[in-house]
Amino acid sequence: MYSNPSDAPARIAVTVPALRKAKADGRKLVALTAYDASFAALMDAAGVDIVLVGDSLGMVVQGHHSTLPVTVADIAYHTRCVARGLRAPLLIADMPFQSDATPERALDAATAFLQAGAAMVKIEGAGPKLEVIRFLSEREIPVCAHLGLTPQSVLRLGGYRVQGKEMAAAEKLLADARAVADAGAELLVLECVPSPLAARITEASAIATIGIGAGPDCDGQVLVLHDLLGVSQGRRPRFVKDFLADAGTVRGAIEAYASAVREGRFPAAEHGYA
Ligand code: KIV
Repeated sequence: MYSNPSDAPARIAVTVPALRKAKADGRKLVALTAYDASFAALMDAAGVDIVLVGDSLGMVVQGHHSTLPVTVADIAYHTRCVARGLRAPLLIADMPFQSDATPERALDAATAFLQAGAAMVKIEGAGPKLEVIRFLSEREIPVCAHLGLTPQSVLRLGGYRVQGKEMAAAEKLLADARAVADAGAELLVLECVPSPLAARITEASAIATIGIGAGPDCDGQVLVLHDLLGVSQGRRPRFVKDFLADAGTVRGAIEAYASAVREGRFPAAEHGYA
């Protein structure tokens, strides 16, 4: 085990206003999930803009079949771990299942995550979540919204499927994207939506969009770390690319992903849905 070099050059921190500037400048945002300090430090060194402590940890770290068992304590613990490995990237903590069911519950959980080192929290869905997004934003807690396939809805959806394929569903997603931004969200994750729809939402949106299974035209891209390293179990969705296979080292894989996103080479058309 090696410690972080204390004489490493300082990098400019990625702030919330910097996200809007990146969108205005047309600079792609590079995002990845992390769950511990060592991987977080590699992401920092590779110039990753955004690191997400995703509730995907329930599946890729804890071995559950969904994200539903993840608790506030789990996310707070992993946020503290990841924060120790980061200097520059914006750190987002995921609000786990039902921690954002009411504004008051959400405020307690989000406060714990910001005190653990996060600079933003991520909330799945619109509808009743709009009140929660507004409540947190008005209390100085930056929010990232998450629309499209929202994995915490897996029981209602009956599986993990592409969302927004029919015209009515697409129009609803466009309206929801407007609504979360109006409620105060500063960033929007779009998961598993057809590429042309993600492009429409991105063009219409005042806030930056971060795609995963949403095609090449979002303002940025996020991947689950274990997917990028090719170690996730089960069927590989088409938006996943194993960067370790070509790069040969973990550090190289993260760097290759970061430059591919920044240069618009990943995701390519084949990683999206029609
Ligand atoms: O939990 C997670 O890792 C996520 C990303 C897939 C966006 O929500």
